[in-house]
Amino acid sequence: MEQPAISVVGLSKRFGPVVALDRVDFEVPPGSVFGLLGPNGAGKSTTIRILTTILRPSGGHAEVLGRDVVREPQAVRRLIGLAGQYAAVDQNLTGRENLRLIGKLTHLHRPRIRPRAGELLDRFDLAGAADRPVRTYSGGMRRRLDVAAALVPDPPVLFLDEPTTGLDPQSRNALWELIRELVRDGTTVLLTTQYLEEADRLAERVAVVDEGRIIVDDTPAALKARLGNTVVELDMAAEARAVQAASVLTGRFPEVPEREGTRLRMASRDGSALLLDVLHVLDANGLVPRSVAVRESSLDDVFLALTGHRTAAAPATGAAPTSGAGPTSAAGPQDTSGGTGPGASPGSAPGTSADSARQTARSAPEDTP
Ligand SMILES: Nc1ncnc2c1ncn2[C@@H]1O[C@H](COP(=O)(O)OP(=O)(O)OP(=O)(O)O)[C@@H](O)[C@H]1O
Ligand SMILES: [Mg+2]
Repeated sequence: MEQPAISVVGLSKRFGPVVALDRVDFEVPPGSVFGLLGPNGAGKSTTIRILTTILRPSGGHAEVLGRDVVREPQAVRRLIGLAGQYAAVDQNLTGRENLRLIGKLTHLHRPRIRPRAGELLDRFDLAGAADRPVRTYSGGMRRRLDVAAALVPDPPVLFLDEPTTGLDPQSRNALWELIRELVRDGTTVLLTTQYLEEADRLAERVAVVDEGRIIVDDTPAALKARLGNTVVELDMAAEARAVQAASVLTGRFPEVPEREGTRLRMASRDGSALLLDVLHVLDANGLVPRSVAVRESSLDDVFLALTGHRTAAAPATGAAPTSGAGPTSAAGPQDTSGGTGPGASPGSAPGTSADSARQTARSAPEDTP
């Protein structure tokens, strides 16, 4: 069998009492995209930081192109590029200076440095801003420069930690296209994301991570076949009516309605068709919903289906159960949102519970090998 580009066996990481990774296993074949999909605090960045030799695991084993990340960190570093979750470029240098500096630091052949920086600035649509200090860049420009920086040495294995968080739909699409090009040219990419759609569009395989464990590792197609890729949501205004509607709908359709307060949701492969049928049945029973929506499945829906609970970052009830789907709804051509439901509000921020944990993590001393 072909050697995997990345192989992870029983990988664990503890930070004091916090178990950030708990016996994680996965393999990434060369020339493919592997997506780690999970909510805040799931352990995505920790995985990437171990694989890129920034952190030492507490247990288990990981290799990049056959090199052990603990025993051969230098060799691993020569094989990888990393765009971390937080921009690593120097704010006071220009975009071009940053890329050239990285060319020098990564020992790119000297005559290659200038043209390589120029090529990447063009490719990431940063040529116009190339000679301005990075502190004058917008968030999206910084993010693109960060990914460009990871590509300077043309690494065979690329790690991208939430590469499109904070990008507008157009920049996100552009970055997806760049990632696809890299993979066509043979690069292996491991990326993390909180967006189901992103994993779906880019990755051959997706591992869903929750609280340091992989809860499923499959192809996006298989995941969607299991979960449906659209969700129908109905708000029945009153809990009693929602209970009644759930009982009317149960058994009539292969899709099972799940009730939460006054709301019902049904995952489906064809949400629009299901919605029409559902409304028909409800209407015949004198049950007209207050609002209806058809939207793409979000990470939160995947969690609910796989674990029976929502992502920690999502509110348990209330107006925005689909916070993770914000940019997804804004970008997706297959978005069938009727614009009436909570799924239609783009860009709503994820919740804060795990964010505050991350704040603690960021201010804690770094545990470097
Ligand atoms: N240096 C650290 N010290 C202590 N705890 C840490 C440290 N780094 C991470 N953690 C904890 O490990 C867990 C996993 O964190 P990690 O950063 O890997 O999550 P993530 O999946 O990348 O989340 P996000 O989507 O918020 O970036 C969290 O509970 C976090 O608080
Ligand atoms: Mg992270």
